Amino acid sequence: MSKKIKILLGVTGGIAAYKSAEIARLLIKKNYLVKVVMTRTAEDFITPLTFETLTNEKVYPYNAVEKDSPMLHIDLARWADIILIAPTTAEFLSKILHGRADDMLSTICLAYDKKLVLAPSMNKNMWANKATQENYKILKKRGIFFSGPEYGSQACGDIGSGRMKEPVDIIEDIELLTKKKSKLFKDKKIIITAGPTIEYIDPVRYLSNRSSGMMGCEIANAFHNNGAKVILVKGPCNYMQKEGIESIDVVSAKEMLSAVEDNILDCDIFISVAAVSDFIAKNLNNDKIKSNQDINLDLIKNVDILQTISENYDVFTIGFAAETSELKNNALKKLKNKKISVVAANKVSFTEGIDNNNNSITLFWGEGMEKILNLKNKKDLAVEFVEEISNIYN
Ligand SMILES: Cc1cc2nc3c(=O)[nH]c(=O)nc-3n(C[C@H](O)[C@H](O)[C@H](O)COP(=O)(O)O)c2cc1C
Repeated sequence: MSKKIKILLGVTGGIAAYKSAEIARLLIKKNYLVKVVMTRTAEDFITPLTFETLTNEKVYPYNAVEKDSPMLHIDLARWADIILIAPTTAEFLSKILHGRADDMLSTICLAYDKKLVLAPSMNKNMWANKATQENYKILKKRGIFFSGPEYGSQACGDIGSGRMKEPVDIIEDIELLTKKKSKLFKDKKIIITAGPTIEYIDPVRYLSNRSSGMMGCEIANAFHNNGAKVILVKGPCNYMQKEGIESIDVVSAKEMLSAVEDNILDCDIFISVAAVSDFIAKNLNNDKIKSNQDINLDLIKNVDILQTISENYDVFTIGFAAETSELKNNALKKLKNKKISVVAANKVSFTEGIDNNNNSITLFWGEGMEKILNLKNKKDLAVEFVEEISNIYN
């Protein structure tokens, strides 16, 4: 970085405030200039001294005044290239929405007209509350960038959405906003399917699988970071893609196919990562099947999204193949029978591949071409996957 980018780190009074120290440390390490402004409640959770020590700058409290800078809020708003508020409490989210200015941080935000990045952090019910959700949607429409929140275990013992993104992931968002993105797939339109599908048997029961959606979402993120216009067609799962990626939520394989076909015409690449249910019930029961009897469930083959797309549309097609054995043989059969461009095969078992943070992939394409992407976390694997696909595609 030739000229240092200036980040004003706002810290509000949530339990994740202790993680802001790590955010400040990482920003400094990445060569950003950092000044910290704290709300009054934030100081109940972490001391200004921590930030002063990490940033080597004075920290501004909620009622900061300076003799030689009477317009401190305007000066700080002008100074910042980016304001990052991490954590952002539910209260502060609502304050920003209403344009309130009753302390230093909210006043700076009101006087600020550049990129505002919020990293919300709160209990899952606070996040799911209609008031918070409406605030979030309106703020997004105003162009405010949201880094998280994410799904996971929370300080209060709950599990759900509302947890602050990890500091390294927030830093990654800041880097993407401040640095030029590499553009391996600039202006390419890419449709990616992710997650499981659900096929109903009766009004309460369904067939599905253990897919978490993580691999598909991380691949979507990696293509997005490389300049592609990504459309993510996602079955029911909790894993979230990055801000700015268009996503279409679907339930069944038929809905997934229809969403893909609705968008396929000017598409350059189609990637089927979703774990599509291979079977559906031959007859859908409109009434709940009674539990006091043995039943035989007749299953028939479901729609084949990958094959439908590869056979009917002129698009570079990549299909994931989850195999429990005979990985190479099965992958090569899929490549040939479904006439697709690349097969990305991964081994699955009760403990590998699916519903797991780590994965390895072997790519097969052309006449006997093969490349192994070794076991690593799915985020890093997705980055490597995009680089390899760029070599094959171009
Ligand atoms: C122990 C404790 C933990 C809290 N954690 C959170 C939290 O994680 N997220 C949140 O939105 N509010 C949390 N609150 C509530 C906020 O502290 C409260 O809304 C406060 O007014 C926020 O002020 P500020 O946004 O100006 O910092 C917590 C309160 C307490 C007492």
